[in-house]
Amino acid sequence: MPDEPLELRPMRSRDAEDLATLRLATAEAGLLTAIGRRPLEVFFRLAADDPDTIGFVAREDGPLLGYALCTTAAVRLQRSAIRSSPRLWLAAAALAIRDPRLLGSAIRRLRALASPRRVPQDVEPALRLFDIAVTQDSRGRGLGRRLLDATIAAARERGYPAMGLSVLADNERALRLYGSSGFVPNQRGVRDDGQTYITMRLSLRMSGEPEGSDAGS
Ligand SMILES: CC(C)(COP(=O)(O)OP(=O)(O)OC[C@H]1O[C@@H](n2cnc3c(N)ncnc32)[C@H](O)[C@@H]1OP(=O)(O)O)[C@@H](O)C(=O)NCCC(=O)NCCS
Repeated sequence: MPDEPLELRPMRSRDAEDLATLRLATAEAGLLTAIGRRPLEVFFRLAADDPDTIGFVAREDGPLLGYALCTTAAVRLQRSAIRSSPRLWLAAAALAIRDPRLLGSAIRRLRALASPRRVPQDVEPALRLFDIAVTQDSRGRGLGRRLLDATIAAARERGYPAMGLSVLADNERALRLYGSSGFVPNQRGVRDDGQTYITMRLSLRMSGEPEGSDAGS
């Protein structure tokens, strides 16, 4: 639309503050919203400069309208962000008091990220769509699709063989977006908080290319 120029471009470290705002605005109440801005800003600053991470943002004139980020380094980035914020443990405790069902998962997640011996085992493929989000008012206008398309194209260009993701089974909008972009469901599981999730995988190989080794991911 000529009167609403949309900027879709790779994420930069100076987007970190705006990305933290966007992420907090689009997150459901939970550990993420309890931890405060600081670790999120650190996470996005590191992610924007990380060679194993691909991120895109969408912006019109004002604030960011959406972003998508995929990475092979989610654990490393989250650990660095967590170490920057001792307040996280307090946030987990506060969360547990408000919603005791979340205590187990919050503590497990933080311990896994804090200890080198507790690295969560990412199943293949190693490149994961870590997150995609569009502000509430801008949904349904095709931004999510454009962000995802740009991320997939960049991943393919860099030679990654596949992209994986995990999505809650009741997130119909995201499931439709992923399905129509070629992601295929492969597993179902139940999170600590009782919510069912689905893992999905997209092959990034061009048709005719063999599904061989995943070198480069
Ligand atoms: C998922 C999300 C990123 C999609 O962004 P969006 O900008 O609304 O998506 P788009 O407008 O590009 O639409 C993409 C597809 O979503 C589906 N969709 C869009 N609006 C929908 C609606 N109201 N109901 C159901 N599906 C819908 C359609 O399949 C659409 O494809 P189409 O355009 O070919 O019909 C956005 O809804 C969001 O930020 N959700 C909250 C965060 C989230 O759940 N992220 C995913 C974590 S796994």
